[in-house]
Amino acid sequence: MQDQELFDLTGRRAVVTGAAGLLGREFAGALAAAGAHVVLVDRDEAATAAVAATIAEEAAVAPTVLALDITDPAAVGPAIEALAEVDILVNSAAIDPKFEPGAELAGHLTHYSLEKWKASLDVNLTGSFLMTQACCRLMEQQGDRGRGAIVNLSSTYGLGGPDQRIYRGADGQKFFKPVDYSVTKAGMLGFTRAVAALYAGTEIRVNALTPGGAFNGQDDEFVQQYSARTILGRMAAPADYRGAMVFLCSDASRYMTGANLVVDGGWTAW
Ligand SMILES: NC(=O)c1ccc[n+]([C@@H]2O[C@H](COP(=O)([O-])OP(=O)(O)OC[C@H]3O[C@@H](n4cnc5c(N)ncnc54)[C@H](O)[C@@H]3O)[C@@H](O)[C@H]2O)c1
Repeated sequence: MQDQELFDLTGRRAVVTGAAGLLGREFAGALAAAGAHVVLVDRDEAATAAVAATIAEEAAVAPTVLALDITDPAAVGPAIEALAEVDILVNSAAIDPKFEPGAELAGHLTHYSLEKWKASLDVNLTGSFLMTQACCRLMEQQGDRGRGAIVNLSSTYGLGGPDQRIYRGADGQKFFKPVDYSVTKAGMLGFTRAVAALYAGTEIRVNALTPGGAFNGQDDEFVQQYSARTILGRMAAPADYRGAMVFLCSDASRYMTGANLVVDGGWTAW
C-alpha cells in the first residue's frame, strides 16, 4: 500500500451519529471526502437532509440519511441490520448542555434536574452502546476474523473537570457546565477500552477522539477566557478535527486500538 492510500476510504461504509451536529457534520464530510459512503444518523431529519445535500455536492458517493433516535432499540437494530455492511462507526451524537439565558444556576450540581441527568446518560452512553452493539454484529462477520473501525467521541471535560471559571463574566457566573457531561464523556473512554479489549485478536479497532471546544458564535468574553487556557491560544474551528477523524477511521491508524487521541489545542497539556 502506498502512503497516500493509507487515508483512502473508497468502498467503505461509515455510519456517523449526530451527523447534523457542529462537529458531526464535519466528521461526515471528511469521511465522505476521503471516499466513504456515509450514512448520516440523527434525530433531526431536516437538519440531516441539509447536511447530506451539502456533502453530496462534493462526495463521490451520495450520503444516506437515517433519521432515528439512537436511544430507541426498536429503531436502531433493524436500521443498522438493513445496511448489511458497516466498516466505520462514529459515535458522535450527544447532549452537550449549553448556556441558557436566565438559567445561570441550572447546570450546577445542586440545581440540576434528574430528568436532564438521565437524558444525558441515555443519549451519550446508552445510545452509543446500542449503535455499537448493532454495528459490531455486522463487523464481526466482515473479513477473515472481523473487521471495522469505531470512533467514540469524548471531550477534554471527560479527562478533567470543567474549569467553571471560563463561564464567569464581569457580571458573575453565567453558566455551569453540568456534571453529566463529564461523567458521560469519561464513560466513553471506558467504553472504548472495554470494547477494544473485547475484540482482541480481530481487526475490529475501537478508539476515542477527545476534542477541545469549537467556536460556535460564543461571546467574546468566553472566547477570550477559553483561548487563554489553550497552548495554541484559540478555540478550535470545527474543521480542525477532520484530519484526526479520517486518521482514526482509515488504515493510517491500523495498529491503533483502545487509545484516545487528544486534539485540544494543548488545553490538557498545560
Ligand atoms: N462541539 C464541541 O466543541 C465539542 C468539544 C468536545 C467534544 N465534543 C463532542 O463531539 C461530539 C459532537 O459534537 P457536536 O458539536 O457535533 O454536538 P452537537 O450538539 O452540535 O450535535 C449533536 C447532534 O446529536 C443529535 N442527537 C442528539 N440526541 C440524539 C438521539 N437521541 N438520536 C440521534 N441523534 C441525536 C442532535 O440532533 C445533534 O445533531 C459530541 O459527542 C460532543 O460531546 C464536542
